[in-house]
Amino acid sequence: MARLAMVVMLIFLVITMPLAQTQEDGSDQVSWANRNDNGKETVTNLQFYFHDTLSGKNPSAVRVAQANQTNTSPTGFGVLMMVDDPLTVAPDPNSKLVGRARGFYGSAGQTELALIMVMNFGFTGGIYNGSSFTIATLNPALNPVRELSIVGGTGIFRLARGYVIARTYSLDPTTGNAIVGYNATLVTFI
Ligand SMILES: *[C@@H]1O[C@H](CO)[C@@H](O)[C@H](O)[C@H]1NC(C)=O
Ligand SMILES: *[C@@H]1O[C@H](CO)[C@@H](O)[C@H](O)[C@H]1NC(C)=O
Ligand SMILES: *[C@@H]1O[C@H](CO)[C@@H](O)[C@H](O)[C@H]1NC(C)=O
Repeated sequence: MARLAMVVMLIFLVITMPLAQTQEDGSDQVSWANRNDNGKETVTNLQFYFHDTLSGKNPSAVRVAQANQTNTSPTGFGVLMMVDDPLTVAPDPNSKLVGRARGFYGSAGQTELALIMVMNFGFTGGIYNGSSFTIATLNPALNPVRELSIVGGTGIFRLARGYVIARTYSLDPTTGNAIVGYNATLVTFI
């Protein structure tokens, strides 16, 4: 009897497990994002990794301008980089792509590394596909943790305000290649 119950249970598990999986995949929920509303506002938390690659055949960040003193400046003051960086769910560059960061950053600090960043974060995953937010912020990139300001958005992020907590995951001092963890908190009206 007990054995029969176990067989029935196993069959039940085998049948229902793939079904639950399908339901999870088919819904709007995505692993890197979380949304909560209080009836007036929605708070969205997004977590993803930003891959800024300066070296190799296909760099995602390229130098487009510099000042006379950039090469002699300890902070590369005056350099301007144009960026089209992939955003993924995990630090591994081959993990699932959820969007791209497009815009530019430049060195705006003469005595310490202070990047000025103006960038659009456009998403392609789940219900966020087609939506974006924009940052316009100073980024003291050598600090292990930085706070960046979100100044607006489009689509699901229309009228967004918010901030990003950015943490360097890896930085190659020779090439400047960096992987940065982004934890964005956005508030939008319902
Ligand atoms: C930049 O350097 C070049 C050569 O050293 C010089 O001719 C030019 O006037 C400099 N430009 C500025 C804006 O200082
Ligand atoms: C995102 O939207 C575009 C344009 O509507 C569509 O072509 C694409 O398949 C969508 N991607 C995903 C992952 O849903
Ligand atoms: C990201 O930020 C949210 C909201 O502040 C916080 O709850 C969460 O723990 C943070 N995640 C990480 C990995 O820091």
